[in-house]
Amino acid sequence: MNLGFPLFPEQASTMAPRVDALLYFLLAVSAFFITLIFLTILVFAVKYRRRAEHERPKPIEGSVWLEVAWSAIPFGLTMVMFVWGASVFFDIYNPPQDALEISVVGRQWMWKAQHPEGQREINELHVPVRQPVKLMMTSEDVIHDFFLPAFRLKQDVLPGRYTSLWFEATKAGVYPLYCAEYCGTQHSGMIGRVVVLEPADFEKWLSGGAKGMSMAELGESLFQRFGCAACHRATGTSQGPSLAGLFGKTVELQQGITVTADENYIRESIIDPRAKIVVGYQPIMPTFKGLVSEEAILQIIAYIKSLSAPERKPSQR
Ligand code: CUA
Repeated sequence: MNLGFPLFPEQASTMAPRVDALLYFLLAVSAFFITLIFLTILVFAVKYRRRAEHERPKPIEGSVWLEVAWSAIPFGLTMVMFVWGASVFFDIYNPPQDALEISVVGRQWMWKAQHPEGQREINELHVPVRQPVKLMMTSEDVIHDFFLPAFRLKQDVLPGRYTSLWFEATKAGVYPLYCAEYCGTQHSGMIGRVVVLEPADFEKWLSGGAKGMSMAELGESLFQRFGCAACHRATGTSQGPSLAGLFGKTVELQQGITVTADENYIRESIIDPRAKIVVGYQPIMPTFKGLVSEEAILQIIAYIKSLSAPERKPSQR
């Protein structure tokens, strides 16, 4: 249907047709009941209108099957909505294991992205088509919101923690990227574009430009510069635990609880090292709050991840 202007944005991700199908279903159910209710009001208003001054309506006895019907049918319909909606929701929030991971940092008022190979972009994001891509996102200042209408995806980007979003683009092309959370005077200008490329073109784009260090290599140089390696040696020391093989593992803490060593845990351990102390160690690590940028923390996390997964080097993708 072409009305001269698009009613809906393009469908350019695997999620887009699924989200639209659910929306059409909800609209159809709503339209059906609006029509039914308004028609019934009109028909009843005419059919049961008062015809004489002293007319009295007959008492109503009630109807069991009518009451069962108007309970069971809406219940069934809302359960369909719930199960259908939940299945789309879970698929949106569970990225596939093999997703290509890209870091995104929002700030007033721009989007900064960095690829595992080290390429950086501002207000642009180049991704390959037909490959799951996972964004690991945080903010340097206030709450932003990463919104891709053509992919039917939206995710808040928060200061002080990581949120993620994944998608698989189905069509090469250029799609708008918006900030969908009011974040200050230039909020409306916090826009960019996602460039979806055929795999060969994406490889070409990746290898073009200045050859810099990969995120993991940048993280390793930061690791040396901040002197982290003095305590966190690969063999482990009495001062600090080894970080080799740490990522994704379960860590036992002094409070007797366990946590998973994910991005948020590592970030917190850099910014607020005393929040979670690994069992068997003393709270002697100084905070690096204010000393490392959000992008630097993401690079250090990439380095720590690379210590756990030598078989998943970015160059072997
Ligand atoms: Cu960032 Cu609105």
